[in-house]
Amino acid sequence: MAAGVAHEIRNPLASIKGYAQFARTSFEKDQQTYQDLSVILDEVDRLDLIVESFMGFALPNKPDKKWVYIEDLLDETIQLLKSDFLNAAVGVRLITAGKTKLFIDAGQIKQVFINIIINAIQASKASGEIVIKTLNSVDGFFTVEIIDQGTGIKEEIMDKVFTPFYTTKEKGTGLGLSISSRIIQNHGGALEIDSTMKQGVRVLIKMPLKGDLNHES
Ligand SMILES: Nc1ncnc2c1ncn2[C@@H]1O[C@H](COP(=O)(O)OP(=O)(O)OP(=O)(O)O)[C@@H](O)[C@H]1O
Ligand SMILES: [Mg+2]
Repeated sequence: MAAGVAHEIRNPLASIKGYAQFARTSFEKDQQTYQDLSVILDEVDRLDLIVESFMGFALPNKPDKKWVYIEDLLDETIQLLKSDFLNAAVGVRLITAGKTKLFIDAGQIKQVFINIIINAIQASKASGEIVIKTLNSVDGFFTVEIIDQGTGIKEEIMDKVFTPFYTTKEKGTGLGLSISSRIIQNHGGALEIDSTMKQGVRVLIKMPLKGDLNHES
């Protein structure tokens, strides 16, 4: 089980807990339904504890790397998030130049794209647009830029956004960026955030063009 999956399990668990707690208030302690709901609540707590200890410091598994066309992976991710874009009334534009193969764990990198694009959608206003751009840079790194026109990140919280469990969202777990950053580091790359724009945020995902020599087989 990837840390990213564990992360996604916690939100529905929290709502199961909330609903069960609310339902229990309609019954007296000696009623069977009250006791049944208490069993559900205890089990939810146990699950939550298991997921939490599993995640530890949200360490993703060691990447299982293969040569993958990064543009295809971006296409797939955008398709996967189609209804998220539609529901938020946010547009998306993918700008690529040709096709590039990178030595990556496709599942993990897709998780990074999902985390960052969902952050961008959540920060965007209706009718905003998210631009996803690839840059074949000269310093040996391939860069994917994800640019939104949303709320931006205030200077005073910039040093906190990569901290596990730091969130400004009511239903956030604050793990998206810390997991993503760890995954990119495990690939020999770097995840950077540029919040100095007039509006919105630009996230740069840098991955080595030749694969990480330390891990390559
Ligand atoms: N594109 C963005 N625009 C504005 N703020 C952002 C953006 N991306 C991240 N942030 C800020 O960084 C914080 C941490 O992001 P992160 O993805 O780690 O957690 P989260 O989105 O709050 O929760 P989760 O990803 O677990 O649902 C967010 O709560 C938000 O304040
Ligand atoms: Mg997030």
